[in-house]
Amino acid sequence: DHAITRIKNMKMIELGKYRIKPWYFSPYPQEITSLDCIYICEFCLKYRKSRKCLERHLHKCPFKHPPGNEIYRKGSVSFFELDGRKNKLYAQNLCLLAKLFLDHKTLYYDTDPFLFYVMTECDMRGYHIVGYFSKEKESSEDYNVACILTLPPYQRKGYGKLLIEFSYELSKFEGKTGSPEKPLSDLGLLSYRSYWKQTILEILIALKPQEGQEKPQLTINEICEQTSIKKEDVISTLTNLELINYYRGQYILTLNKELVDSHRKIMEKRKVRIDSKYLHWTPKD
Ligand code: COA
Ligand code: NA
Repeated sequence: DHAITRIKNMKMIELGKYRIKPWYFSPYPQEITSLDCIYICEFCLKYRKSRKCLERHLHKCPFKHPPGNEIYRKGSVSFFELDGRKNKLYAQNLCLLAKLFLDHKTLYYDTDPFLFYVMTECDMRGYHIVGYFSKEKESSEDYNVACILTLPPYQRKGYGKLLIEFSYELSKFEGKTGSPEKPLSDLGLLSYRSYWKQTILEILIALKPQEGQEKPQLTINEICEQTSIKKEDVISTLTNLELINYYRGQYILTLNKELVDSHRKIMEKRKVRIDSKYLHWTPKD
């Protein structure tokens, strides 16, 4: 796809209460991209060429949330699942919006093979889009995320990790392990590494020795089963953490006090978590 090699073409977008500067090229129609700003309906994601046009649209737009089914709600955070075939226009508009912040991924004009999981924050005015990830309905490579995005006004507040946590929660319900589609962007990789590290440490630290054993034991496969993180990602995380040692013919993991303490501090700050009790979803097959 040569679209990704094109240079940034849009100056500004307005979405709900935010004005956002695009990062990359996105194939919005040319008559729109020449304008100083385009105006996007934060609920249906249709775009308009002026604020006046958007206001006219808002008067008749019936939506206060993304299309599809609300499959999760806890506090003000909801997730909506929608089908790229059944909600094609919304899905295409979501991809156009997302491409503004994605450099390397090819934009899928054909949204049919994907499901979309849109995360929103709710207030009196409606369900405001915060971010989303897409997922192939069928992945031959065990990908559980295709594209993932937190909209810039919401970045660096932990929403990315919440999206990632949700994607693994779906994989748990499917009884599978999964991994994000490659290549990941730099920010994507940072976020995943941080998520994997925290999730795996959480399990290791909680581990107790079984009766008659001096030290707790756990196989890599058990970590995969409990987290739905794919084996190669578990191994790379343990390796990056330099936790794996080879001792007398066995692999052993050693957790030092500093690591455990810093993990505890970090987790105290990660207050908003996905709670599977609130997920109302069954995998389609
Ligand atoms: N610089 C340094 N670290 C960053 C960062 C930045 N600009 N943005 C995120 N991180 C790190 C955070 O420090 C955090 O790790 P920590 O908790 O150990 O500190 C981790 O990444 C996740 O942060 P979080 O706030 O949960 O993520 P986010 O809401 O900012 O979303 C992305 C992360 C990747 C979804 C977001 O950056 C994004 O949408 N980027 C554009 C699209 C993209 O590249 N998607 C991935 C490829 S498909
Ligand atoms: Na990124």
